[in-house]
Amino acid sequence: MDVIAPDLPPVASREDCLALDRDDPLAALRDEFVLPEGVVYLDGNSLGALPRRTAARLAEVAQREWGEGLIRSWNDAGWIDLSQRIGDKIAALIGARPGEVSVADSTSLNVFKSLSAAAALQRADAPRRRVILSERGNFPTDLYIAESVAASHGLVLRLADGERIDAALDDEVAVLMLTHVNYRSGRMHRLAETTRAAHAAGALVIWDLAHSAGAVPVDLHGANADFAVGCGYKYLNGGPGAPAFVWAHPRHTERMDREQLRQPLSGWLGHAAPFDFAPAYRPARGIARFVCGTPSVLAMSALECGVDVFAAAEPAGGMAALRAKSIARLARLRDFRDVDEGVTRNRRAAARGRAAWTLAIVAMMTFCRCFARRVKRTLRSAQSSFVQILVRASHCSCMCRLLCVGLVSRFLLRSGSDVPRDGMPACKRDCEIRHVRSS
Ligand SMILES: Cc1ncc(COP(=O)(O)O)c(C=O)c1O
Repeated sequence: MDVIAPDLPPVASREDCLALDRDDPLAALRDEFVLPEGVVYLDGNSLGALPRRTAARLAEVAQREWGEGLIRSWNDAGWIDLSQRIGDKIAALIGARPGEVSVADSTSLNVFKSLSAAAALQRADAPRRRVILSERGNFPTDLYIAESVAASHGLVLRLADGERIDAALDDEVAVLMLTHVNYRSGRMHRLAETTRAAHAAGALVIWDLAHSAGAVPVDLHGANADFAVGCGYKYLNGGPGAPAFVWAHPRHTERMDREQLRQPLSGWLGHAAPFDFAPAYRPARGIARFVCGTPSVLAMSALECGVDVFAAAEPAGGMAALRAKSIARLARLRDFRDVDEGVTRNRRAAARGRAAWTLAIVAMMTFCRCFARRVKRTLRSAQSSFVQILVRASHCSCMCRLLCVGLVSRFLLRSGSDVPRDGMPACKRDCEIRHVRSS
């Protein structure tokens, strides 16, 4: 995946930041979201912000489609097609093709369905492979589901550190299941390279895109991946508890069609003809077999609004432009963090400087007082020469004290002088940082 971060001019002032905003072709997207005044929202990895269009759409679904259309809306308002319709929109964000993505259930359930399907395919093709491999730091639900799939398929779950996945791929591994972007560290696996390595080792690969769909460009076909799942309520802005999605490469769904294979949650809406109400299960073709029961139409409608925001980003460069901007933003935040640290260091240096000067002045006063007292005493005790008086006076403990204080002051001043004093003056940097924090 090639994402080029733009060359960033150095940030010098608030005006520079405002100019960047003015020239940003994506800036208008800010109005697509409802956010409280003064909030900089960086928690889209957990719950995406509320798209402006969602509340009106939900009211329309409730009042018109449900309230007036009632049961007819399953067809008249297209409720029955929501899973595939939204799936097609998500497909465009993850390098899949129309008709390849179903929106249904939660990510956990989709991990269960796709991991079970992959394990069943491998049981048929490579029965000696007994391992599901994943990353030790993967999101817990993926690991918990993998434990239970392993138990029901007679497999074992093997965990490796993220950087050592390639080394853990051997001829025992049936399925490699990874989250593309780690929920805790933000570390991103190389989708294509890791998929290639897993295939070379004879394993199938499932990618959890919970932290990448809608956040970074993803190319499932380009990577030749096997299965993928992802979350609707994070970067897709579908709202709390939004439905999730599932993708399988057509080579697997076509095989499942040919061999009438099912995923284990074979509910009635994943049936080939749900309204025949037949007593025996016959899977729908393609990815539609991964649907289980009746979807929440309200939640699906909210998710569609979230996904439609990406269509609004298309004229400004779409996912690639969003990614480039996110990289640029991160670089800016780092700039400000560095400046922030610089300001703290400058403040400490200034405090050390003040302490050193105070010590020096106190020491000089002590010395003068001490010197004067000695001179007086020497003059009283004997008739000495001026040189004698100086030698005797300076050969005293206050000279030692002065020396010590001098050394301490010099140390304090020296450690303060390490701070670079170029660039913005500390007070100005301070203003910039306070502005960024509150804007
Ligand atoms: C990587 C990953 N997978 C799965 C989930 C949980 O998905 P769900 O609650 O929809 O089952 C999360 C939740 O944050 C996640 O980060």
